[in-house]
Amino acid sequence: MVKAGRIPSNFRNLTAVKFLSQKSSPFTLALYTILLFGLTIFIFLLYSKDFDEQKTLLSNDAHNHLQSQMIVDNQLWDAPFSNGLHQCVKPTAEYKVAQGSNYYMTIKSNGGLNQMRTGIADMVAVARIMNATLVIPQLDKHSFWKDSSMFSDIFDELHFIESLQQDVKIVKELPKELENAPRARKHFTSWSGMSYYEDLSQLWKEYQVIHVAKSDSRLANNNLPLDIQRLRCRALYHALRFSPLIENLGKRLVERLRSLGRWYIAVHLRYEKDMLAFTGCTYGLSSAESEELRLMRENTNHWKIKKINSSVQRNAGLCPLTPKEVGIFLQALGYPPSTLIYIAAGEIYGGSSRLSDLTSRFPNVVFKETVATQEELKAFSNHASQTAALDYIVSVESNAFIPSYPGNMARAVEGHRRFLGHRKTITPDREGLIGVFDKLEMGQLQEGSSLSDIVKKMHKNRQGAPRKRGGPPPGIKGRMRLRYEESFYENPFPECICKS
Ligand SMILES: *[C@@H]1O[C@H](CO)[C@@H](O)[C@H](O)[C@H]1NC(C)=O
Ligand SMILES: *[C@@H]1O[C@H](CO)[C@@H](O)[C@H](O)[C@H]1NC(C)=O
Repeated sequence: MVKAGRIPSNFRNLTAVKFLSQKSSPFTLALYTILLFGLTIFIFLLYSKDFDEQKTLLSNDAHNHLQSQMIVDNQLWDAPFSNGLHQCVKPTAEYKVAQGSNYYMTIKSNGGLNQMRTGIADMVAVARIMNATLVIPQLDKHSFWKDSSMFSDIFDELHFIESLQQDVKIVKELPKELENAPRARKHFTSWSGMSYYEDLSQLWKEYQVIHVAKSDSRLANNNLPLDIQRLRCRALYHALRFSPLIENLGKRLVERLRSLGRWYIAVHLRYEKDMLAFTGCTYGLSSAESEELRLMRENTNHWKIKKINSSVQRNAGLCPLTPKEVGIFLQALGYPPSTLIYIAAGEIYGGSSRLSDLTSRFPNVVFKETVATQEELKAFSNHASQTAALDYIVSVESNAFIPSYPGNMARAVEGHRRFLGHRKTITPDREGLIGVFDKLEMGQLQEGSSLSDIVKKMHKNRQGAPRKRGGPPPGIKGRMRLRYEESFYENPFPECICKS
C-alpha cells in the first residue's frame, strides 16, 4: 500500500515537469490526456489489488473459534485516520553516494535489544557524518539480559551491509593491519548534533580508528539535516532486519495468532524485575519482594537514583501498570473477555500467580511460550535479545499495541507502527489511570459503564494518530531539553512520514 502510493506520485511529477517545459500541440495534449487516463487506471488497479489482498487475508479464517464469540467493534481495532500519510525515506537530490574511507569506527553497543537497535541506527548516521567506515558493532553481553549473541545472531548482517551501501561503508571486521593501531576511545556526548560530530572528525588527523564505547542516545532527536534523519529510518526500519531464523519464527507466530483470533492485542507488559527495581515501584508487592528490588537497585551502579518512595512514584504516573491494572484498563476500553491478548515480555516478576487477575478477565492471554512450540523456541533459549526480537515482530504486527511502560521497546514499536501506517497504539495515561484505580480501590467508583466512559474519554487522543514529534516540555532549560524531547524513533514524523 505504502509503496504503491509512492510510485504514482513520482510518475505524476515527471509528467507535470515535461508538460510545463514544452509547447504543447493538440496532438501532444491528447497524448498526455490518454497517458494520464492510463495512469489513473494503473493507480486504481494498484490500490484495489491491495484492498483485495486485505480482504482475502481477513476472510481466510473459517476455522476460527474465538471469532464467533467476539462482538466486533471497529473502534477497538481500526487504525486511526492517517490522512494519506506514508513512509518516505529516500535521500534528497543533494545526497551523495558514500565513497568509503580509510577511517574506521568500532562500536560497542549497549543496553537491551531496542536500545541497541536504535543506537546502531544512530551510529550509522554518525559514521556518515564523520565519513567513517563502520565496523559491524559488538553487542552488549553484560546488560541485565546477559545475552551472548553476536550481531549476526540477531540481525541479517549481509543485508545490513548491502542495504546501506550508498550511505556508509560497512565491514565485518577491522582490517588486519589496523588491529593493533592506536584507537581514539570516545564516550560521545549524549544527544549531540552535527557540529559536535563534525568537530570530532579532527580526530582523523591523529587516529585511523575511533572506538565508540556506548551507542545509546548519542545523537540528538531534532535539528539534524533531513538526509541524516532519513538515513536513521533506512537504517532502523530497512537495514536492521532480524536474522532469517528470527524473522521466520516471528512471522509464523503472527500467522498463528491471526488464525486463532483474527485480531489480537499485543501488550508489552514491562512487569519485569529490572524495571520494577529501576523505577522503585513496589505497589502490591510483599515486603520481601520490595526488599529484593531495593537491593538490586542499590547494587546496580549505573542506576543513579537509589532512594525512591514507591507511592510518590506511582501517583506521578511513573510506574509500569501492574498485570491487574492492565486487565481493568483493557476491560474499561471495551475489549470483550474473548479478546486474544499476546503478552510481550520477559519473565513476569512474581510469576504466573501475579497474572491471575488479568487471565481471569481475559482467558485468551498467550505468550510466545504458548504460541510457539518448545522445539521452535529451543534455538533461542538463554538469548533474551533474540526472544525480545520475536516479541518485537509480534508487537509491530498486532492490531492494537498497548505498552504498560514507555521504555525503549515501547517507543521503538510505537514509532515503527507509525512508520508503517499509523497502526493503533494505545498509550495508557498512567497518571490519570492511577487516580481511577485508587477510586476503585476505595469504593468511590465501580467497574462498569461509568468507569468505562472515564477511561475511554481519557484515551480518545492516545491511539497513535498522526502528529508531529514533540519538542521538549516547557520549563526545561539547557542541554536537559535534549533529553526530554520526544524520541526520534518514537515518532519519525515529519522526516520519514510524508504526504504525497
Ligand atoms: C567528508 O567527506 C566529504 C567529501 O569526501 C567532505 O566534503 C566533508 O567535509 C567530509 N566531512 C567531514 C566531517 O570530514
Ligand atoms: C512515601 O510518600 C508518602 C506520600 O507522600 C508518605 O505518606 C509515606 O510516608 C512515604 N513513605 C516513606 C517510606 O517514606
